[in-house]
Order: sequence, then structure tokens, then C-alpha cells
Amino acid sequence: MCGIVGYVGKRPVVDLLLKGLGQLEYRGYDSTGIAVERSGEKKIEILKSEGKLENVARLAKELDQAAKGATCGMGHTRWATHGKPTTQNAHPHRTGHVVLVHNGIIENYAEIKREMASKGYHPVSETDSELFGFLVLEEMKAGKKLRPAVTASFRRITGSCSVVVMSDLEPGTVVGIRNGTPMVAATDPKGGGILASDAQPLLDLTKDVIFLEDGVGVEITEAGLKFFEFANDAEVRPATTHLDWNAENMEKGGYPTFMRKEIFEQPTAIVDTLNATLDRAKTEAFPLAKHRASDLLLAAEEIVFVACGTSWHAALLGKYWIEKYARIPVAVELASEFRYRDPVLKPKTLVIGITQSGETADTLAVLKDMKKRGVPTAAITNVRGSSISREADGTFFTAAGPEVGVASTKAFMAQLVTLLCFAGARSKVGPQAAGIDPKVSKKLFEHTLALPHAIQTFLGDEQGLAKQVKAIAKALDDAKGFFFIGRGYSFPMALEGALKLKELAYVYAEGYAAGELKHGPIAMIEEGMVVVVLAPKDSWRDKTVSNLEEVKARGAKIVSVGEAGDTHLRSLSDHWIPLPHLEDEALLPFAMAPVVQLLSYEIALLKGTNIDKPRNLAKSVTVE
Ligand code: AGP
Repeated sequence: MCGIVGYVGKRPVVDLLLKGLGQLEYRGYDSTGIAVERSGEKKIEILKSEGKLENVARLAKELDQAAKGATCGMGHTRWATHGKPTTQNAHPHRTGHVVLVHNGIIENYAEIKREMASKGYHPVSETDSELFGFLVLEEMKAGKKLRPAVTASFRRITGSCSVVVMSDLEPGTVVGIRNGTPMVAATDPKGGGILASDAQPLLDLTKDVIFLEDGVGVEITEAGLKFFEFANDAEVRPATTHLDWNAENMEKGGYPTFMRKEIFEQPTAIVDTLNATLDRAKTEAFPLAKHRASDLLLAAEEIVFVACGTSWHAALLGKYWIEKYARIPVAVELASEFRYRDPVLKPKTLVIGITQSGETADTLAVLKDMKKRGVPTAAITNVRGSSISREADGTFFTAAGPEVGVASTKAFMAQLVTLLCFAGARSKVGPQAAGIDPKVSKKLFEHTLALPHAIQTFLGDEQGLAKQVKAIAKALDDAKGFFFIGRGYSFPMALEGALKLKELAYVYAEGYAAGELKHGPIAMIEEGMVVVVLAPKDSWRDKTVSNLEEVKARGAKIVSVGEAGDTHLRSLSDHWIPLPHLEDEALLPFAMAPVVQLLSYEIALLKGTNIDKPRNLAKSVTVE
């Protein structure tokens, strides 16, 4: 779960690496480092530090001309797995003339460590990564050039990871291998090339990129890129993907944080995802665009969603919608649990992995396992070329655009759009469709098309919902803890609200199905606790209001989220956030999402936490 960038070419590499690492910091940010080849000298210089990139950027200012003139180098931003986040454990690691960065885990490190110790190699860091340098050094001692030495070493290790290696002895060369954690490469039109853990650092140079498959490596020199399989050193020619992502998308666009920008981009994410999921040339309700994944969805008799975190909450809503509108059974599974169970799946079950990053280790592992068992698989992801999109039999791409804030907002919204489209599309096909009134999905479709406008109006600008939520957040600053409660569609939103608050503001927060409160958690309710009650005017509203009264009677402060005209709910509440009137209750989660996101955001702001990069988290969780 680290970020890697490497470059060889004609551009000054120090700034290029620092900028690239800034774009990859979401992958981990507890230490950072760069290695650059001093111009005109056969010598690689390393700068590294614990903490954020700015520490290394400060060190880079002190570099002399030979280092500043470097046009070959690599960098790394770390999320610690083996060893503490210290400068010593930061990458790059040097072993003799070999310098490397690594993302992922070397599972057989203990065995390699023993073997290398017997040859006199003793690591100075606590990382598993450093051991890889010993292997490369040994191979080069035996006469191999850098690239074959790296592939031979890679064949010795187990576990999913990527490495990028340089050597003082082979100036102007960077060798990278991908096996289980992502790597993207591109030719620099000015000469040479670049690689990185995702496409963002490449976009300043080109939009034509190559997503490496597992088992494939790339050697970059000023002459360009050469791709090879590490298993047998054979050269390969992977396909190029043209990305329509705009480098400007990556900037904050005037917002103080990426997360805030991404919250306000949600109406666009809804429009773009509807356009990506549906065949908009057709006028029927929910016409899924035809491709392998939509064929699989339409043929399935049961669906199992697997996901983690926020994507799992999206899956829960998907279940509610699909079961209601399409009447086919849906199970929702935590990927980290499902992968170690021995599940019983009926024939014609489709397993769908939902992951905005497309790299989440547990979700990916489930799909790989299902593939081995011959179970059809599909994916919903926001990242083209991501690992899951290559693993699944078919993929639905959400179109939220790049999401930089670690807390998922617009990517979650885009997942909801895709899942709602699944429900509408499945209501029309399959044996169960005979019993479903087509007028229902037609109406839902009309209301769905009106949704982006409704959410845009609701979100408004900084003077609208955001201002109101900010004032409420201020009044809750001294809360002991939070419960988010809801029923029906509001239940997954309650879970999502609590998760957002935990990850952004680091305060105690629980999400509960309102009906579950009295089965234990109500014992926690006392003065000082805040209960956020999600009670829009839907089929569950009255029952949720009864639960509100129970917690109010026990001293909790109540923040209600309900329909604008619900004066009764308002009168029971200490704080009140009105939702817009949406024609269909199934669409209410789209309005509740920005409310819980902004509430967590504003509380986090008051606590002074790092909103785009919360502590201990990373945007893509490529370790289990
Ligand atoms: C979202 O705000 C969280 N950061 C986290 O729960 C996330 O949703 C989870 O790690 C799954 O990520 P994925 O969608 O990339 O698989």
C-alpha cells in the first residue's frame, strides 16, 4: 500500500518525482524518499525521511547541481507494514550499488533473511523490502546485468508486490516489476519513460498509458520502454490505454481540500455514471449499455456482492434496491470474511466485487478464488486498468473521475448509481420479471434522471447545506460519542455516516439499524451522546421516530435528518437537517450521503485532523 514513481528521460527528475509522489500520497504517507542518479557520475543519491513528502522536498532544496540536474530516478511514499514508519525504514533502500523501492509484502522474507545472513548480508532496516536488494546484488555479482538480476531475484520471492530497482553500475536504467500491486508505465514523448503505482503522475507527460499485468516488468532507459515477463525474461508488448482523465481534475479547484471538492462534484459523478452505465440512445427504462458485465448481470439468478468499508455500504443499498425492484436474491458479504469461508453458491450466481480503487486485496482475492471455482464474476470499480477490472469476467466502470481524498464520497455516490441501474435493468429480465409492474421501474427511471439536478440544488454552494451543517457541527463539538441510526435505506447510510465520522474526525461513532438499539447499544445512551437520526419520509419513518423518542428520553442530543415538511420530527430534535423532496423513497440515500459526509467533514475540521489523509489510512488497501 505504498506509492512508487520512477523516471528516465530528459526532464529534471527531482521535481517530477516530488510532484508524482504528492499525487500518490493517498496510498500511504508515513515516510517518503527519492533516489536520483547524479548527472555525469555513476552514483545514485538517496534522500529520505519519516513523515510527509514535505520533509523530503525540504531536503531536496539543499541538493547540489549534479543531483539537481538528474534525469533518472525513483521515489516512494510508504504505508508501513514491516517495521515502524522511521527514516531508516523509509524507501529507497541501498545495498551496495543496488537501490530499490518496494510496494507490498515479501512473504518468505524470514527464509531469505536467514540465507542472506549466512552470506554476510545484514539489513539495516526492519523492512522485508531491503532483502530484495541483497538478492539483486548477489545476482549481479554473479555477472548478470540489472534487468536479469532483478527478474531472477523476483523469482525467489513470494507474496504480492511491486519493485523498482536502479544500480550505480547501470546508469540511466530503471527496472520495475508488477506482481499483485499496481504499476502503470508510459513513454515520455520527449524521450525515455515513466512508471508509477497509478496513472496520475503520468498524466502530465502523456495520456497514453500501459497498465502492467501481474508478472510483467518494464525496463526504462532514455531509448524508451521494454516490457518483459519476469518468469522467463521473454519480451512482451502490452496494450496501450488512452485515458480521458484530465490532469486538472487532480487539482483542488479552489476548495480547501480534495474531499470538499469531491463532495461538491457528486452531481457530476451521478450524471457521468448514468451515462457510462446506460445506453443513453435508448428510451426504455434503465437500458444497460451492452458489454460482457451487463450480459453476466442480466443472466444471473442470484447475486453475491463482496466489498469492504464504504463500498460494502453501497452493496447493502444495492441489495435493498435489487431485491425490491428486481425480486432476485442478493447477498452482501465482507470480502475479508467471505474469502476465508467455504461459501455455498447456487448455480447461476454472479459474484460482484465492488471497489472504488479496484485494488483492495480482500475483494480481489475473492474474485480470484471464484474464478478458480468457475463462478462467474463481475466488478464495479472507478479505476480503468485496475487489478479487479482485469481479474473479473466483466467490469462496470463508475465515472466519478479521480478521487484523491482517502474518504470515499463521489466514488460511493457513483457506486450507488450503478447499483440502482442494476435494480432497474434486472426488473425487466429473468423469470421473476413477469410478476413486476413495468410502470414501477419506468417511474423510478424518470426520477433517477432528475436526480443529478435535485442533488445539485440540495448541495448548492457553500452558503447552502454546508453552512447549515457547519453550524450544527459547532454545537456538537463536546459530544462524548455519536450514534447514527436509520431503518431501510437509511440503515446503510447510518453505517456510512458513522464510518465517515470515525475515519475523518477520530471520534467514537456507531452506525446502527434503529430497530437494533434496544438489543444492547441503548445502554450507551446518556447525556453527552449525540444520536443522528436518519428518518426521511419513507416506509420506515414512523418506526424510526419511535426509536428517536427512546434515545431522547435517555438524555441524548438529537440531530434529525428528515423531509423538509416533517414538523413533528423537527419538534423532537435539537438540530434539524431537512432533505429535499424526492419523488421516490428509494432515491433518498443520494440526498442523505452529502449530509453525513459534510457533518463528518465539519466535525473533523473542528478537531483539526488531516481531512484528505486521515491517520493510519490509505486510499487503496492492497494488503489484507
Ligand atoms: C472509505 O471512506 C474508506 N476509506 C474505506 O472504507 C474504503 O471504502 C475501503 O477501504 C474499500 O475501498 P475500495 O472501495 O477501494 O475497495
